[in-house]
Amino acid sequence: MADLLAQLEALAQSAREAIVAAADEKSLEELRVRFLGKKGEISQVLRAMGQLVAELRPRVGEVANRVRDEVEELLVEGRARLAARALEAELSGRPIDVTVPGRALLPRGHRHPITRSGEEIAAIFGRLGYEVASGPEIELDRYNFEALNMPADHPARDMQDTFYVEESTLREGVEPGTVLLRTHTSPVQIRSMLRLGKPPVRIICPGRVYRSDYDQTHSPMFHQVEGLCVDRGITFADLKGTLAAFARAYFGPRTRTRFRPSYFPFTEPSAEVDVSCTICGGKGRVPDGNGGTRRCGTCKESGWLEVLGSGMVHPRVLENGGIDPTRYTGFAFGMGVERLAMLRYGIDDLRLYFENDLRFLGQF
Ligand code: PHE
Repeated sequence: MADLLAQLEALAQSAREAIVAAADEKSLEELRVRFLGKKGEISQVLRAMGQLVAELRPRVGEVANRVRDEVEELLVEGRARLAARALEAELSGRPIDVTVPGRALLPRGHRHPITRSGEEIAAIFGRLGYEVASGPEIELDRYNFEALNMPADHPARDMQDTFYVEESTLREGVEPGTVLLRTHTSPVQIRSMLRLGKPPVRIICPGRVYRSDYDQTHSPMFHQVEGLCVDRGITFADLKGTLAAFARAYFGPRTRTRFRPSYFPFTEPSAEVDVSCTICGGKGRVPDGNGGTRRCGTCKESGWLEVLGSGMVHPRVLENGGIDPTRYTGFAFGMGVERLAMLRYGIDDLRLYFENDLRFLGQF
C-alpha cells in the first residue's frame, strides 16, 4: 500500500510542475490525457488497487480521488492563465486601427432587378394611396378562376396553361383539380375585397405567377403586379388617369398611353394598355448611325408597346368579393414585371433574369 501512496504523491508532484510549465492549450490537453485519461496514470493506480487486501483499498481510493481533484483544478487554473496571457499580449501589441477602410474582397451585391422593379411599381401606386396586398402562390381554383367569372368550361382558361397540384399530394377530401399554382395575381382581387369587407378598396399586389410556357419572352414562373380600386363613382376615366400617371412615373414624363378594346372575363369593358415606345419615343424608327434611320425592333415600327391588361371590374366579380355592384364600381389592372423591366432597360431575352449570370445582374 505504501508503494501506491508514494506513487500517487509522486504523480501529484509531477502534475503540478508540468501544468504550471505548460505553454499552450495543446500541451494542457496532453497533460489531461496523461493524468486523467482512461489509460492515464491515476487510472493505472486505481487498477493496481485490485491487488490490495480489501481493508486497505478505501485509504488508497481516497488519496487517488484527492489527487484527481487537484489535477482537475490545476488544469482549470492553467487554462485561465493561458487565456489571460493571450489577452495581455493582444492588448499590449500593435493596436488595430478600426478606421482603416475595409478591403473589398467581396463586392456588395444588390437585390434582383425583378424584385426591385416590382417594389418600384408598388411604390408608385403607394404614392397614389394604394396598399400592398398579397395572396398564396398555391391557390384554389375558386379564387384563380371561378370567382373571376371563369367557370370550368370557359375558353379563356386556355390562355393560361395551368399547373395543377398533383392529386396524390393533396390532403384527403380535397377535390382533384381544385388546387393550382396561380396563373395570375387576380385572385388577390377577390381575397382583398373579402378581407377588407367594404370599399374603398385600393390594393396593389406584386407577386409570382406560374404558367406552362417557356421561350424567349415566357418563363414558367414570372411576376405580375395586380391593382384593384373599388369605391363609389369610380369610372373608366379614373382607370385611364391612374394608368397614364403610372406610365409617366415608370417610363418617364414624356410617355404617352393608348387604350385598346380587349377582353377579360373579370372586367367589362376591358382594355389593353400600350405606352409609346421606350426605345424610339413612338416614332417607330431609330437613328441608323449614318445620318439616316432604321426600323425600331422593339415596337416593330408601330411606335407602341403593349404593357398591361385592365378594365372595369365585372359586377359579378364585385359580388363574389362581397361588394354590392349596384352601389360600387371599380377598375382593375394586371401587368408583367419582367416585360415592363425589359422595355425599360432594353432587355431582349426574358430568360436572362433567371440564369443568375453576374455579368447580367451586375448591370443594374
Ligand atoms: N389577370 C390578367 C392576366 O394575367 C390581367 C388583368 C388583370 C386584366 C386585371 C384585367 C384586369 O392576363
